[in-house]
Amino acid sequence: MNYDIADPSLAEAGARRIAWAGRRMEVLATVRERFRKERPLEGHVVAACLHVTAETANLMLALRDGGAEPVLCASNPLSTQDDVAAALVAEGISVFAIRGEDSDTYYKHIHAALDHAPAVTMDDGADLATILHTERRDLEVIGSTEETTTGVIRLRAMAADGTLRVPVVAVNDSATKHLFDNHFGTGQSSLDGIIRASNILLAGQTVVVVGYGDCGRGVAARADGMGAKVVVVEVDPIRALEAAMTGYQVMTADDAAAVGDVFITVTGNKHVLRRRHFERMKDGVILANAGHFDIEIELDALRQMAVERRLVRDNLEEFELEDGRRILVAAEGRLVNLGAAEGHPADVMDMSFTNQALAAEWLVKNRNDLEPRIYTLPEEIDREVASIKLARLGGGLEQLTDEQRAYLASWQEGTS
Ligand SMILES: NC(=O)c1ccc[n+]([C@@H]2O[C@H](COP(=O)([O-])OP(=O)(O)OC[C@H]3O[C@@H](n4cnc5c(N)ncnc54)[C@H](O)[C@@H]3O)[C@@H](O)[C@H]2O)c1
Repeated sequence: MNYDIADPSLAEAGARRIAWAGRRMEVLATVRERFRKERPLEGHVVAACLHVTAETANLMLALRDGGAEPVLCASNPLSTQDDVAAALVAEGISVFAIRGEDSDTYYKHIHAALDHAPAVTMDDGADLATILHTERRDLEVIGSTEETTTGVIRLRAMAADGTLRVPVVAVNDSATKHLFDNHFGTGQSSLDGIIRASNILLAGQTVVVVGYGDCGRGVAARADGMGAKVVVVEVDPIRALEAAMTGYQVMTADDAAAVGDVFITVTGNKHVLRRRHFERMKDGVILANAGHFDIEIELDALRQMAVERRLVRDNLEEFELEDGRRILVAAEGRLVNLGAAEGHPADVMDMSFTNQALAAEWLVKNRNDLEPRIYTLPEEIDREVASIKLARLGGGLEQLTDEQRAYLASWQEGTS
């Protein structure tokens, strides 16, 4: 085994966090139990480029229970939990990830994971898959999985221009992933990140949410619930209208820039907050990004505009402008929930990572029938994952009667 982590002596603290997260990943536990008996991934290396968190550690252990040899590298330079990385290495799993690593090290770590000649790869943002399709075309893999919206967009673009050479399961497209992880996970953990970075009271603040997709809806709902005045910025008229009818103010970015106290970008797009917006912002505003890459806020422009920069708290940097106004940026404009907090709670990663484990199994099982294109896991898997999670939450699921099933499949019965 080889590895590159910050500090192996942190293993004990990491193991405690992994165990705590594992207690709340009950759907994954049912998969692990079956994996231990059936060993569907026996003998296969799975190279995962995911946020190195306690929840991901539980996925790695599940893959190993399934017979795989998991190898892990980071999917973001700032999201690695060094104690978790140490605990996984103590478990005998190769990990290449150090919190705060520079871009060269980040990509060196992706190559190190790929050096294990994986049969299956997992991504959160498609950085590893991109290397697989550029510098490491020598490697043959059965297939890949993708965790997040931005990664799926990149892989669809690869498929569209004919570059994609492996089958990919878009885990993000499973209902039990994006309707829960993106909405409830990003909603809670992004505010958690902003609060940990700044310790501000959100009640009474004007919180601007840029992007009202699966993640943005969750962020807006949580900010609203905490007493903030929510403003939504959207480019899609349907989503903008949905936000307006939910009761939020909907504005252009220019107008929102002038009124917001806290800004959260969750678009998957670039430069959605840029120089023209910084020029209009009030003194003391806080900017945070929860979208995948650190390009949603145009930090280069802010750096150029600043006459002084200072770190005012861990994960909170202040940019002082020529006119004296101060603009604060949380977690270097990287994913605020992972950079300044601990990422999504295990309760919701339970479903995302159950889908990941089942996607790896599905790829191996169907390896001879797959083409290089983007697949979604079968709907039965989604329904099974949701049913187990609902039961764990103590929810009861109503069943259709035979009469109702027949009625829904018929057309004869109309106005009486
Ligand atoms: N922080 C996390 O842990 C986490 C979790 C899941 C997804 N993500 C990432 O968050 C981002 C959003 O994901 P999603 O699932 O909500 O995507 P989505 O496609 O459902 O929503 C994105 C929204 O942003 C809007 N948008 C695009 N450009 C815009 C602009 N210039 N101004 C205003 N709105 C704009 C789109 O119209 C869309 O409604 C992606 O990068 C995704 O990978 C992060």
